[in-house]
Amino acid sequence: MEIKLSKTISKATTPVFLLKDEDHIDKHGFYKFLSDDDKKYLINFQKNFPVKKEHSHPLVLPSGIKVLVIGVGERSRFTNRKAILAARRVVAVARREKVRDLAISFEDFLAKDNRENQKLLAEVLATQFEMANYEFVKYKTPQPEGWFFVQEINVFSATNGVLGEAFANGKMVGEEVNNARNLSNTPGGDMTPQTLADEAMLIGEKYGIKVSVIEEKEMEALKMGGVLGVGKGSSERPKFIVMEYKKGKKLEKPVVLIGKGVTFDTGGLNLKPDSAIYEMHMDMSGGSAVIHTMAALARLGVKKNIVALIPAVENMPSGSSYRPGDVLTTMNGKTIEVLNTDAEGRVIMADALEYSKKYKPRLVIDVATLTGSAMSALGQRASAIFSTNEKVQVRLMEAGEVVGDFVWPLPLWEEYEEDVKGTFGDVANSSKTRYGGVINGAMFLWQFIKPGNGETQIPWVHIDMAPRMTATENEYLAKGAVGAPVGLLTEFLKKF
Ligand code: BES
Ligand code: MN
Ligand code: ZN
Repeated sequence: MEIKLSKTISKATTPVFLLKDEDHIDKHGFYKFLSDDDKKYLINFQKNFPVKKEHSHPLVLPSGIKVLVIGVGERSRFTNRKAILAARRVVAVARREKVRDLAISFEDFLAKDNRENQKLLAEVLATQFEMANYEFVKYKTPQPEGWFFVQEINVFSATNGVLGEAFANGKMVGEEVNNARNLSNTPGGDMTPQTLADEAMLIGEKYGIKVSVIEEKEMEALKMGGVLGVGKGSSERPKFIVMEYKKGKKLEKPVVLIGKGVTFDTGGLNLKPDSAIYEMHMDMSGGSAVIHTMAALARLGVKKNIVALIPAVENMPSGSSYRPGDVLTTMNGKTIEVLNTDAEGRVIMADALEYSKKYKPRLVIDVATLTGSAMSALGQRASAIFSTNEKVQVRLMEAGEVVGDFVWPLPLWEEYEEDVKGTFGDVANSSKTRYGGVINGAMFLWQFIKPGNGETQIPWVHIDMAPRMTATENEYLAKGAVGAPVGLLTEFLKKF
């Protein structure tokens, strides 16, 4: 899809009138482009059908041109969040109505909380347009007329000139969000640890990121007992993917991103019941998100040092699987008592957290579809965030708010440590209590990045993105993966 700044409307373009309840259609920027008959028609239309929240009217005007009239509710309630949904909705309506070329007015999306930074709003809108124009069709036979996507969005704005770059940058982020969705949506049979590693390599070549893949032999030498343990049950060999983007100052310490790369999670010997195993090919969504965050940062030319680590395994039941009761020794020497082979994510992440320390990072952010409990706690509208550093957490929440990629905090309190203590190993991968699974997951991970005696805590953030793995109702995104938190991480890292 092309997003470009325009000053005139061609015959083939469909203007979008995004109306608040109080708006009169004759005050809209596109009104002046219409013929007298068309103007009269629209004024009459609005008189007879007040355009309210959630209304969307495709109209063919007397002169034959098509317009979309879309209601967004009261002006006083139109916030940046609503603007984000409106951006997606415009594209969703256009796709439904088979409208190829759109014209939108930038000012329609201005809300009281996004007026100050119009460049940022332009970026966000472009990202959202791309995201809404996505659908995973790779495995479906196309209809004879092909798949329908919006081809062109013409943006009209009073501040035209300065927004071009912002729209281009936002579009790049949207493309990388969609590329992450492609990886996540790919069926487990085609998305193995090897394929995930190949994808990372490809991106490395394309954008000048150094990518290396640690194979089993080397993992053994590094004593990565967590990754090796979970990987044992599958005929697909585990991979530990390392991406190093070094465009910052030589001496600047890097931010390390860690993404859970379980390419299929059956639960292992603690096999998941049928309904729970569905969609578990997306259990590498943390991995796909950090891979494509790297791509986005590179394409934006961000001058920072960022490292991404993706432990990639398939969690399978077989004669060679790790068992409940097994005790695994991780890279940092701590042992994990496996109480449940379905709590595999934290086991592989433990080794990655230890590996991150070799970079002396100024911040570590891990992203994982770690627990169903995160969804019980938050529903599907926000990922759970935990942090050792309040300031960083707040900045991440704010970045998420701006780009519509939401995170919400839960406590990282030592009192909860009780629940992850092992009986026959140092840390148990599942807790005795059936409550607070999302917190237990975070507490488990913390054990692998907590300072030892005399050391200081490396600033650390854990994002349990299980809630945002797939799209939910009324968010105008295609079924399947949503590409969280690529937008959030990119926005945050640009400025951190
Ligand atoms: N990958 C799952 C969590 C998940 C479930 C993500 C649904 C997205 C949607 C994870 O590996 C898992 O199985 N977690 C268990 C942990 C439990 C055994 C301690 C869970 O949440 O039930
Ligand atoms: Mn699991
Ligand atoms: Zn999992």
